[in-house]
Amino acid sequence: MPISLCPTSEISDPGSKGFLIEQGEITTNIFVVHKDARFYAFVNSCPHTGAPLEWLEHQFLDRDNAFIQCSTHDALFIIDSGLCVAGPCVDDHLTPVELLIENDTLLLQLTGRLHK
Ligand code: FES
Repeated sequence: MPISLCPTSEISDPGSKGFLIEQGEITTNIFVVHKDARFYAFVNSCPHTGAPLEWLEHQFLDRDNAFIQCSTHDALFIIDSGLCVAGPCVDDHLTPVELLIENDTLLLQLTGRLHK
């Protein structure tokens, strides 16, 4: 069953927002990026060390809003695919999360557990 995240209007374009998702006793960080009128979601875990990516709360994009940026060692990820193109984990991917939009609300489509 989908989990409601927030109204689509709550995330500016470009912009990003983090969420805590509770599944039983396990809580997983995810984040959503809004860019060019599209939304993308990933588990908030850098493939380099597993660290969360944001440099400030809800800030997942680089200065130009062109890439997702890891604040720990500055890895850069392509927004629409999660592919790392710079930094210590080049060619690794962020773990994507499936989103739905219904009635201008972002929903998380859970097809399994988010944690690895
Ligand atoms: S933890 Fe993300 S680049 Fe090192």
